[in-house]
Amino acid sequence: PFEKLKDGLLSAPSSKESKDTAVFNVNESESTVSITVVGASGDLAKKKIFPALFALFYEDCLPKHFTIYGYARSKMTDAELRDMVSKTLTCRIDKRENCGEKMDQFLQRCFYHSGQYDSQDHFAELDKKLKEHEAGRVPNRLFYLSIPPNIFINAVRCASSSASSGNGWTRVIVEKPFGRDSESSATLTSALKQYLEEDQIFRIDHYLGKELVENLSVLRFSNLIFEPLWSRQYIRNVQFIFSEDFGTEGRGGYFDNYGIIRDIMQNHLLQILALFAMETPVSLDAEDIRNEKVKVLRSMRPLQLENVVTGQYKSHVRGGITYPAYTDDKTVPKDSLTPTFAAAALFIDNARWDGVPFLMKAGKALHNKRAEIRVQFRHVPGNLYRSIGTDLDRATNELVIRVQPDEAIVLKINNKVPGLGMRLDRSNLNLHYAARYSKEIPDAYERLLLDAIEGERRLFIRSDELDAAWALFTPLLKEIEEKKVIPEYYPYGSRGPVGAHYLAARYKVRWG
Ligand code: NDP
Ligand code: BG6
Repeated sequence: PFEKLKDGLLSAPSSKESKDTAVFNVNESESTVSITVVGASGDLAKKKIFPALFALFYEDCLPKHFTIYGYARSKMTDAELRDMVSKTLTCRIDKRENCGEKMDQFLQRCFYHSGQYDSQDHFAELDKKLKEHEAGRVPNRLFYLSIPPNIFINAVRCASSSASSGNGWTRVIVEKPFGRDSESSATLTSALKQYLEEDQIFRIDHYLGKELVENLSVLRFSNLIFEPLWSRQYIRNVQFIFSEDFGTEGRGGYFDNYGIIRDIMQNHLLQILALFAMETPVSLDAEDIRNEKVKVLRSMRPLQLENVVTGQYKSHVRGGITYPAYTDDKTVPKDSLTPTFAAAALFIDNARWDGVPFLMKAGKALHNKRAEIRVQFRHVPGNLYRSIGTDLDRATNELVIRVQPDEAIVLKINNKVPGLGMRLDRSNLNLHYAARYSKEIPDAYERLLLDAIEGERRLFIRSDELDAAWALFTPLLKEIEEKKVIPEYYPYGSRGPVGAHYLAARYKVRWG
């Protein structure tokens, strides 16, 4: 098994503070990091992992001595991997100065080993090659499991018995899905823990690496004007909205086994909710933050089916183009009831949030692509201006945190329309990132890969967080599946099922 070394022995600073100054200084010259992308021939590796690694390299964020290995069953030479990486590599760095030169340098550090995921011998061959590159330095090894979940355990078992680092650290990034309910998640976790300590497991939820999600805590805890308002006393409801303007094309096989609730709500949206609603952590230390998130998750009221609306997109013709139904995908059964849309009303039964509806909405094949947090504040008591043109709804403030695209924080306020009369309207105080900051926003995978290399666990999911997230959603998912709840069909490219509006209306909420 992996040497169950406690991370941090060699180089891992555990706070951002140390990141800039002391990242690899202790053993910079004597240690090396080998990053093995397991499943390197796949979609995620090409789309996200290699581009993120290149961006980190370009920005000089990778340690001095590093090697990247692709590992998968497909037969490929080092040159072919490099060719694949350079052809598919599109990232924010593309148009930068010296990009080509940097790319060549990067590719020279990339290698490939072909092997089965369940073969100790093949991982032993990989180990041999890694050792050659490590050249006697303290070897730190990071394995990124970018493979389907049913082969996670085999890969971890083989890597642990045949390719673990000797006296350096060994960490494993595990991609979602982490199971499909409480039981399968617990099985996965206990299987992983046969070979790894919890602090070697980096469960990735890439939404936690998004700039505006990371900024949530800064916004709340370092601005006096927000934190005092952050409770049932001033907040009427909070909305977490995820929409994509494309369907599940190409991923139907995976998606049909999971559905939108498992794909987006149980992880991405729930993680944002936990960060949004948590109490002030004792410090910025990963454990302190994750302790607070777990408390929120464990305070959540069990989800009732009556507080959930599900939908599935159907075919739609627009502008002479026929957009397919979810079930038109050949890898999806014709009679599939898997939701591609869901809306839910959730409640946190604690003193801060008692009675405040937290509404979630997630859908594929909708009219736009966006991820947003919307905070709707209560009405101004005894509103002095009620009689002059602000109806009650318009009079409330709203804070919009646009996670993507076009990142922004917008505070909607009531304002006097300039002029001699007295007329109010609602205007926006805008913080548009593109206008305010010239620096590009890194991709979420860049931040998360860097954190994993540095041993920073704050943005990764701890096993008790995962358990609490599944405990919330598993009974609901079982009920939906056992009762064969029929989703409300909505046209591809529409705003989704009207049921979502009735659900919100039940709590006197209008979706933003
Ligand atoms: P792929 O389906 O592309 O699989 C990755 C690689 O795994 C393939 O290239 C293939 O490599 C190998 N593989 C695929 N199916 C099997 C199988 N049945 N048995 C053995 N090996 C197999 O996955 P993705 O790259 O799309 O995703 C990787 C992981 O990341 C998954 O867990 C996925 O759920 C997760 N994920 C993916 C996202 C995405 O956008 N793609 C987003 C978020 C999470 P070879 O045949 O060469 O061995
Ligand atoms: C993944 C989901 O986790 O997140 C996909 O499996 C979804 O279905 C994707 O498309 C969205 O990520 P992003 O970063 O493009 O919003």
